[in-house]
Amino acid sequence: MDYNSFYQKSINAPEGFWQEQSNAIEWFQKPKNILSKNTDDYYHWFQDGKTNLSYLCIDKHIKDGYGEQNAIIYDSPVTDTKKFITFNELHQEVSKLAGGLQSLGLKKGDTCLIYMPMIPQAIYAMLACARLGVIHSVVFGGFAPHELAIRIDDCKPKAVITASHGIEIKRIIPYKPFVDQAMEESSFKPQNVILYNRDNAPLSVVKSYDIDYSELVKKSNPVEPVELNSTHPSYILYTSGTTGTPKGIIRDTGGYATALKFSMKYVYGVEEGERYWGASDVGWVVGHSYIVYAPLINRNTTILFEGKPIKTPDASTFWRVISEHQVSVMLTAPTAIRAIKKEDPHGDFIKKYDLSSLKYQFLAGERCDAATLKWTQDQLKVPVIDHWWQTESGWPMLANMAGVELLPIKSGSAGKPVCGYDIQVLDENGSPAAANTEGYIAVKLPLPPGTLLDIWENTQRFKKGYLERFPGYYFSGDGGYKDEDGYVFITGRVDDIINVAGHRLSTAEMEEIVSSHADVAECAVFGIHCDLKGQQPLGLVVLKTNHVHSMKDIQNQIVQNVRQEIGAVASFKNVLIVQRLPKTRSGKTLRKLLRNIADEHEYKIPSTIDDVLIIDEIKSVYQTHFIGIHNQNKLIN
Ligand code: COA
Ligand code: AMP
Repeated sequence: MDYNSFYQKSINAPEGFWQEQSNAIEWFQKPKNILSKNTDDYYHWFQDGKTNLSYLCIDKHIKDGYGEQNAIIYDSPVTDTKKFITFNELHQEVSKLAGGLQSLGLKKGDTCLIYMPMIPQAIYAMLACARLGVIHSVVFGGFAPHELAIRIDDCKPKAVITASHGIEIKRIIPYKPFVDQAMEESSFKPQNVILYNRDNAPLSVVKSYDIDYSELVKKSNPVEPVELNSTHPSYILYTSGTTGTPKGIIRDTGGYATALKFSMKYVYGVEEGERYWGASDVGWVVGHSYIVYAPLINRNTTILFEGKPIKTPDASTFWRVISEHQVSVMLTAPTAIRAIKKEDPHGDFIKKYDLSSLKYQFLAGERCDAATLKWTQDQLKVPVIDHWWQTESGWPMLANMAGVELLPIKSGSAGKPVCGYDIQVLDENGSPAAANTEGYIAVKLPLPPGTLLDIWENTQRFKKGYLERFPGYYFSGDGGYKDEDGYVFITGRVDDIINVAGHRLSTAEMEEIVSSHADVAECAVFGIHCDLKGQQPLGLVVLKTNHVHSMKDIQNQIVQNVRQEIGAVASFKNVLIVQRLPKTRSGKTLRKLLRNIADEHEYKIPSTIDDVLIIDEIKSVYQTHFIGIHNQNKLIN
């Protein structure tokens, strides 16, 4: 098939295109109303269709005779466990857990928060919610109790599903005590905490709201999937915005299923029955879409990997998993490859494994640098495909559509627009930018199916954040340019969001925490280059003249405060004390300038700067401390 004509069809006649694609999934009621505009001039897909994600992921395949096919391979080097879970077994686990949730009063339209490590019960919990029409909100394990409490207060879950603990490289993550802390801190109190006790070890603290997961499943009856409107929210996934408060992206049901099914065939080039591995975490959008829903809808065996690219036990672990489980297509973040490359620069581990099952290696989550792309291509000898998308889109927006036509790969580009996405580079005034000219990446409405419905209980923020900047377009928050062949190059965020190891974080949120320290007069937090993680946050603080603690103590306390409030995932390790911050005459801190000086990019000193001398002061602070900070980037050994 040829990419250009397939893509143009999706843009010129979106309704016909997506109606055809919607036939690839099963509906309890087929949609007739394909595309509709709501009162906010935003579009919804398949309004009158009815389906259920849990049905599509499980029951349909059993009905079609694939009950004994493996649905999930759980591979956990951190616990030395491998488990093969068939669709029949998945059905048993999910339908009984759904019965348990129902017995606790959870029903269609309720919300349920899931805070779990990478264990099968995390997937069971998501699919059990989807079975009942309960809207789940999965929170990544690297977030601290305070972040959990913020999300509990925002989505008001009837129940929280968690596990006793998770296992990181160096330590045990005490999930249940974190949930207890969050329950204390939040104003809204969920009715129950359903606890999966991993080792059946007695808990030190049992709360009145605790329900034992295994007991609940044992005593409950299986339930059937509920018929849901296509536009019924399947989940809320919080992501960082430009303010201190995360935003709850809402996903629909039927549009999502259609888009995911489409993407498996045409973007990832995977056939039904093959093995697919999204090496991410269920707490991120990559995990929602490409560990859980897309592979299972497409009747692929999904790999659930509880480990890291290195140190579990070493940099060979990815290649062992691909070879042992015959993975056809894999998706990971460039950071993971950089970590492996650092430990095994010549690919000695790779040579020990038979990777002949692998057709494509996909990369996403952050910009892929040329060296990482080249190394991966040289080592794996399969097409290495960078592709770009976001929590908001739910599935790829730019890619090389491997299942349609594999186009030449251009280093530095995340490819061409995926079907359904009319991607434009706009200038300041919303006019298309010329080829090779950097601008704002926006997508002409309507977005294709599967993209965000709204922000949970905050339509104002949704409109302001995405739709108002360029009327008629969805604004992605990323900058970039298109070359003369239509390849798009993403250059990075144009707002205060940073990307650390493929994790999206808000510097505004970090600034709120840093500035709340009693000895801090003002501060700026921004992302600087990191060899391993792409970016890392750096805080510059100006102290109050009469500060109480020593500078060293203040630096340590600030680092601890961010870790405690946001979590270890923030990777916030560096605070520098400066005399003043560079500002415009109107008092705006020049963060971009601070970042550019730190990264030694060329920078222009804005004519609006209040006092040029500050630049020399900042440079001298950087010069004194940067060797230490950059060495830390290399601390992975
Ligand atoms: N639960 C609890 N804590 C977690 C966690 C989780 N699920 N994931 C990460 N953390 C913690 C880590 O233990 C670490 O804590 P520390 O400061 O005490 O060491 C901190 O959060 C930062 O984690 P991370 O950014 O992952 O760094 P790392 O040094 O532990 O590992 C890599 C480095 C490269 C191995 C790791 O970043 C990686 O695997 N990256 C791939 C990224 C990825 O898959 N992104 C998903 C988007 S597609
Ligand atoms: P998230 O919502 O956490 O998936 O993060 C989405 C953001 O990550 C995007 O807005 C981009 O800034 C960045 N991103 C994701 N994939 C890529 C990519 N392939 N190239 C460049 N940036 C990317």
